Amino acid sequence: MRQHVNPLSSNFNQIERIPSLSEMFGNSKSNLHLDIGCAAGEFLFDLALVNTSWNYLGIEIREKLVKNAKLKVLEREIKNLYFIFGNANNILNDVQSKFIISNLKSLSFNFPDPWFKKRHNKRRVIQPEFINILSNSLQKGTLIFIKTDVKDLFDYMDYTISSNFYFKKIDKKDFNYSESFNPNQVKTNREKYVIVNQLDIFERIYIKN
Ligand SMILES: C[S@@+](CC[C@H](N)C(=O)[O-])C[C@H]1O[C@@H](n2cnc3c(N)ncnc32)[C@H](O)[C@@H]1O
Repeated sequence: MRQHVNPLSSNFNQIERIPSLSEMFGNSKSNLHLDIGCAAGEFLFDLALVNTSWNYLGIEIREKLVKNAKLKVLEREIKNLYFIFGNANNILNDVQSKFIISNLKSLSFNFPDPWFKKRHNKRRVIQPEFINILSNSLQKGTLIFIKTDVKDLFDYMDYTISSNFYFKKIDKKDFNYSESFNPNQVKTNREKYVIVNQLDIFERIYIKN
């Protein structure tokens, strides 16, 4: 069992400089998807190698994973994939990175750390202030995807996002994945584990109005 990283630790107050879109990607005009808490990034590698007309950005708080993922990107010369190390909340709250949020077509929170104890709920990546920042800077039509195997966490995330006036739920039945960041419905590592172990998956898609 891995030790969870405490995102509220002062270690994460310093954030790395976020490069411009043209420094990060070969084609800065491609649709941009952000995956928050991307771990080693396997999910994003799978997506980026197949969907070359999208750019993929991952944010992860475990530094070693990001270092390794960045090396892999360089070795394989992948031009539509970039990784940023740090606490997503601090990175995206920063004025310098507002341009990332305003350029996103979609973002995903796949199986975020649940932080079960009530006194640790503040460590969850989805917080009302964070959703407010997103609602202020995301373009109309941007999609948010959430997925988890923890019902309590799902209810909390759903309540937090739905409480923001600008986000509306989309019925999964009406959603056309073929035009999304994940046309082939590739699974994340945690999702594969959850499927093999026949656990429940709770998911929802929201659109910014
Ligand atoms: C349970 S793992 C899920 C990994 C992957 N998304 C998946 O579905 O397989 C949650 C990941 O989120 C990262 N994480 C947790 N809080 C974070 C934060 N505030 N900012 C960035 N990453 C975070 C953790 O380090 C961990 O890699």
